[in-house]
Amino acid sequence: MSEKILVIGANGQIGTELVTALRGIHGADAVIAADINNPADDLRNSGPYELANVLDKDNLHHIFQKHRPTQVYLLAAILSAVGEQKPKMAWDLNMTGLFHVLDFSVEFKVAKVFWPSSIAVFGPHSPKFETPQYCIMDPNTVYGFSKLAGERWCEYYFNKYGLDVRSIRYPGLIGWRANPGGGTTDYAVHIFHEALKKGSYKSFLSAGTALPMMYMDDAIRATIALMDAPSDALTIRSSYNLAGISFTPEQLAAEIKKHIPAFEISYADNDPRQAIADSWPKSIDDNYAQKDWNWQPEYDLPTMVGDMLTNLKNII
Ligand code: SER
Repeated sequence: MSEKILVIGANGQIGTELVTALRGIHGADAVIAADINNPADDLRNSGPYELANVLDKDNLHHIFQKHRPTQVYLLAAILSAVGEQKPKMAWDLNMTGLFHVLDFSVEFKVAKVFWPSSIAVFGPHSPKFETPQYCIMDPNTVYGFSKLAGERWCEYYFNKYGLDVRSIRYPGLIGWRANPGGGTTDYAVHIFHEALKKGSYKSFLSAGTALPMMYMDDAIRATIALMDAPSDALTIRSSYNLAGISFTPEQLAAEIKKHIPAFEISYADNDPRQAIADSWPKSIDDNYAQKDWNWQPEYDLPTMVGDMLTNLKNII
């Protein structure tokens, strides 16, 4: 069957890379990039594009009707830090957008749906180290509990309507092609830009704040591997834990210093994102992803830092 893949939120940190990867696999015309904003030139020039606001039900319905996608990726969301500034808007966008996509996917018999969850579904009472798939989950950010509720709904649509929804709880994602969009893990991308431009960076998280992270190449590979896995191999229809690399700002800075010896890091006091980071896991146990669809990350801290600096140097 030839695929027609709709990626909603195509301009974002994940979307930018995913559209490029999917167009490489399925051909440019098979992947429709949709976003609330106009596309960057390379997305516009490399294949079909639609302007789409997930809250505009009629317009989104029209896009499903026009393209009849076989796969849909819903990546549009308000992340953790911005969500705390606009809590009601974050809830509305994250939940209503998901309902529209789930409902239209049932209506138009979409074969597979991907929806990202996050380490933000865990909370202060979840185990901090090697956080397991199943444990106490008491997220205290709007983003976190919108993702937890979304996971429940994804599983519900699978059980109730047979919709083949697949999901990953992404760690903080680090890539050079696109900027992150207002999350708590964003420091781990900004630090590279500032290291190359200014030789210094003020981290909004404290030196010892360990968080689960992942290089974007691994995240894209994981996403496509999950979407390609046979349906009956998947034992989780809420969202899979996924582990990459765990590190602190201090450890990341030390690794950057190996490439840029004069690089200096300093730390801000009282940033509201610190409390969010403190409520999240420090590392993740992803044995279900390993067992069900053979997940293994390829990048560790040194290879991720080396690749980020090499690529970013060429574009900034
Ligand atoms: N990277 C996201 C954030 O920090 C977590 O999913 O909000």
